[in-house]
Amino acid sequence: MKTCIITGANSGIGKSAAEQIAAKGYRVILACRNILSGEKTCEQIKRITNNINVCVMKVDLSLMSETGAFADEFISNFKELDVLINNAADFDLSRKSANITVEGNESQFAANVLAPFLLTNKLLGLLKDSSDARVINISSQGLMLYPNLKLDFDNLQGQKKYNPAATYYQNKLALLMNSLTLKEKLSNTNVSVYAVRVTNVKIDMDRYQNISSILKFMYNIKSRFAISPYEMAKVYTILAADRKLDGFLYDEKMREVKANRFVYEKEPRKRLWDICESLTSRDND
Ligand SMILES: NC(=O)c1ccc[n+]([C@@H]2O[C@H](COP(=O)([O-])OP(=O)(O)OC[C@H]3O[C@@H](n4cnc5c(N)ncnc54)[C@H](OP(=O)(O)O)[C@@H]3O)[C@@H](O)[C@H]2O)c1
Repeated sequence: MKTCIITGANSGIGKSAAEQIAAKGYRVILACRNILSGEKTCEQIKRITNNINVCVMKVDLSLMSETGAFADEFISNFKELDVLINNAADFDLSRKSANITVEGNESQFAANVLAPFLLTNKLLGLLKDSSDARVINISSQGLMLYPNLKLDFDNLQGQKKYNPAATYYQNKLALLMNSLTLKEKLSNTNVSVYAVRVTNVKIDMDRYQNISSILKFMYNIKSRFAISPYEMAKVYTILAADRKLDGFLYDEKMREVKANRFVYEKEPRKRLWDICESLTSRDND
């Protein structure tokens, strides 16, 4: 039986992907911040798929200590891993100022960039032991609106200015940069690294009660043109469970697409990797 971890699997695309991958007979671990919602999702997926090998583990990805502890607990309990899907993302647009965690990181950067970095690197040993492993990182089609976007190294953690939407796109750019670096580092191994360019997908508006009425109005308009989480999750499932592909970034129709230009620049990618390494090793030596 193959084993797959999906972060943020209690909601939206992650939840649908967990269901689809469980239906294929994988052991699926739902890595969730909200344990009650994760347990509810877990029971639903078990019932729908008749797969009893679905379980939930708690992790708040904005904290590197929790992320590291999650990985350690997973390694000692499961000992095998074939697929890691870094799906969770913090895009709380109601946030007015940078939220600094007790560990001193800006919480969006921590959850969206540092956590996938730490989780993947801690679980790499198990992934390398698998005969056919995959790491799948989740990006956003919204980055296409900013084709010339560069990573602002002086504002990685909201030191200069903070805006949740701008931070989210900076985070997604950084995640793509680290994904490409990882793909290159693992090119001679059995671990494939993919990224997904998620399009406009319906979100559960109940989860976003605290955003302004103008944002609610915009989300409502946007959702008229959105595809379902289940439809988008099919791409996750293909990349997780079908035959391996050579490409890097895939859209909702499984077409290989180009990332932003900046993602292909080697020097900033090395700089970002080194920063992530030093910020995540502090709490995880
Ligand atoms: N929906 C779209 O139109 C769209 C467009 C482009 C990209 N995407 C990307 O697609 C992915 C899935 O999004 P979605 O639409 O399915 O959103 P969603 O339903 O809001 O799911 C986001 C998930 O991330 C989890 N999460 C957030 N912060 C976390 C933290 N600190 N620790 C642990 N888990 C955390 C949430 O957990 P809680 O339940 O605890 O909040 C939730 O399970 C994300 O990477 C997103 O950036 C979505």
